[in-house]
Parts: sequence; C-alpha cells; structure tokens
Amino acid sequence: MTLTNKTVVLGVTGSIAAYKAAYLASQLTQAGADVEVIMTEAATKFITPITFRSITGRPVVTEMFDLASEYSVEHVALAEAADVVVIAPATANIIAKLAAGIADDMLSCTVLATKAPVIVAPAMNVNMYENPITQDNLVKLQARDFAIIGPAYGRLASGKMGLGRLVDIDEVLGTICQVLGKGGDLAGKWIVVTAGGTQEPVDPVRCLTNCSSGKMGYALAEAARDRGAQVVLVSAPSALPRPAGVDMVDIRTAQEMYQAVKKAVAKADALIMAAAVADYRSVKVSESKIKRQQVSSLTLELERTPDILGEVKGNFVRVGFAAESENLVANAKEKLHKKQLDLIAANDITAADSGIGADTNQVVLIDREDKVEELPLLPKREVADRILDRVVELLAGKK
Ligand code: CTP
Repeated sequence: MTLTNKTVVLGVTGSIAAYKAAYLASQLTQAGADVEVIMTEAATKFITPITFRSITGRPVVTEMFDLASEYSVEHVALAEAADVVVIAPATANIIAKLAAGIADDMLSCTVLATKAPVIVAPAMNVNMYENPITQDNLVKLQARDFAIIGPAYGRLASGKMGLGRLVDIDEVLGTICQVLGKGGDLAGKWIVVTAGGTQEPVDPVRCLTNCSSGKMGYALAEAARDRGAQVVLVSAPSALPRPAGVDMVDIRTAQEMYQAVKKAVAKADALIMAAAVADYRSVKVSESKIKRQQVSSLTLELERTPDILGEVKGNFVRVGFAAESENLVANAKEKLHKKQLDLIAANDITAADSGIGADTNQVVLIDREDKVEELPLLPKREVADRILDRVVELLAGKK
C-alpha cells in the first residue's frame, strides 16, 4: 500500500552485492512501485541491465549521454519524478562523489538534482568502509539527511569477516516504506505495540507459552511506521524478521513485558496490546533441568501474571485484543469496559484462516460506546491499517 504508484529510483553501483539489488527491484515492483533503475558503469560488470529491465518492465539507465534513452536527454527527469532514491549497494566511490557533490554520471547527477529523500545502503571491503575518508563522507551525508542503513557485519567477498555487507533486503524495503510514510496521518505520534506469546520458564530448557506468532503485532508496528509514527515494538520471542525503523524491545516473560510497557508508554500517544500474554506462570522455576527419573508425576503450581493492559493506564489511547472461542462480542465488551479501553479488536480463534498463526484475521472492532464494526477476513496488514484508522480518530478526539 505504501509503495503503490510510488516512483522509486534504484541506484545500483559496482559491488559484488549488486545481484541482491535484483531481488530488491523485484520486491518493489511486486509491491506496486514504479521502479526506475540507474546503474553505474561498474555495476554493469557485476549484473546486466537486462536483468533489471526484465524485472521492472522499464528501461534501465546506464549512461548520461545515450541518445536512445528518454532520460539521458532530459537528464534530471528521474530526479524530479522520484518519490525516493535508494542506492543499494552503494560503494565507497559513489558515497565519496555524493559527499563532494560530484555529478559525473547519471546516478550522482540524479542524486544531486533530486529533492526526494535518499537512502544509501553501503556495501564494500571492510578497510574501505573503516577508512576515515569514507567515515567522514558518511557523516557528511547523514548531516544532510541522507538515510544510511548498514553495512552489516558478516563474511565479505575477501573471505574475511567484518563490517561491509549490504543489509538484508527486508531492511532496505522497511526503510523505504518508513521514508515514504513520513508525513503520514500518524506523523509525530509515538505508538507502543506489543507482540508475540510470552514465555514463562519452568526450568532452564522448558517454558509455558502459547501459539502466538507475533504476526498481528508486527503488522501493526510496520503499518504505524509507514504512517509516520515512531514505533516501539515490545516483542516476545518471534521467528519473524525484525522490522526496520522500529525500536525493538525484546522480552521473554509477562513480567518483563509489563516493565518494558510501563517504561515505553512514558511518551506514548497510543498503546496497542496485540501480545498473547501468559495469564499464569510457574511459582517455582527450577535452576537445573527437571529430570524425568526423579519425578513420576509433576504438578506445577501456577500464579497470576500482571494484567498489563488492566494496569498500565495514562493519557494515551489504549487498544486491546480479545481472543475468544465463544460469545465473541459479549466477552470482548466485558474486557473493553473492565480494562477501560478505547477500542478492542475481538477475534474468534476457532474461525479458519483467522487469528493465531494465520496471515489473515477477521476481527470485530468495539469502542467505548459499544459501537460494533465487523471487518471482513483481511490480511493482517490490512487489519492493522483499519485499527490504526480508528486510532487516528481517537487521537484527534483526545486533542
Ligand atoms: N493482556 C494483558 N496482560 C495479561 C493478559 C492479557 O495485557 N496478563 C492483554 C492482551 O494483550 C489483550 C487483552 O489484554 O490485549 C485481552 O487478552 P485476553 O487474553 O483475550 O484476555 P484476558 O484478560 O487474559 O482474559 P481471558 O484469558 O479470561 O479471556
């Protein structure tokens, strides 16, 4: 949604990571963006323009003075058309040129001429990256509001380990969405989201947990980010990729989530509790592994965990979820009023394709006036946006 009909100018430079830009171009195109690729001459030694042309369905610009190219004649046309410029991978050479304001090829010329935000994802040899010249150049770019992402640590083309790898393409995509979302309807707002199923330890290798995947909470965090919010995501262990441009707070237990949420809401405009918080934990946690031979039957004594949403209150919008297997609306209304929420998203966990672990969700939204809005079965990201539409309304009402 964030990328639909957006013009993304993708600059590709001469790094061994150039092949990864093909996947980035593909993901952007599939998400509905118009992708215009500009390659430096060095980039064409690593990957051919035909690859990008096939993926994007658009001509690829490689030369400044190519009379056959519509962009070469009107050489700043792409600079003007761009909603965002992304250079991935970015070599030390292009970074130096941008820092110095050199415009001797189509990519550097476009960056110098554009008013669109520019994202730079460096990838190079570790010594080149750590060289103070490159570091100074990156500081200069940062001071001029370029978004620099990475590089990541790992195995480099030289075989050595070090800083210099292109960051994950998911991180580049997340940053593009974040940059495009600046100025959205949640701009300037702080949103705290919780996600995943907490784990309550029994011994060093065992815990009590639930089947929550974290998908709904992560979708909410990404959607809020893409609408301009500053997002804190308090997450229980999850296999999902960490969203870019979101402050992650990793926790394991309900008690840790409680502490993290209390701290995070200090400057929050809204708290959305999508986490499946364990209601009970073991009273005793064995320091050593409980051995099978030692016990023929085992009874765990459980105690209540804190009701985070019930206890964390303040001058911010509070949204909860209600996972129900019966009497959906009645039970959700009871939770809404008991926890004094502004909004609750109730979902029937027995429905197919809905709720825990699924990519889609069918929820009923209920507000303080007991007004019920039934949403159809939607991808979790769309459910997230519908919930955020209501949060935007609630925030406007709190002014
Ligand atoms: N929640 C919470 N702290 C808990 C349990 C739940 O903050 N210890 C939050 C959940 O994140 C959710 C809402 O409260 O937003 C409702 O959670 P749910 O598990 O549906 O309800 P419970 O309050 O635990 O009640 P029950 O288990 O009886 O349905």
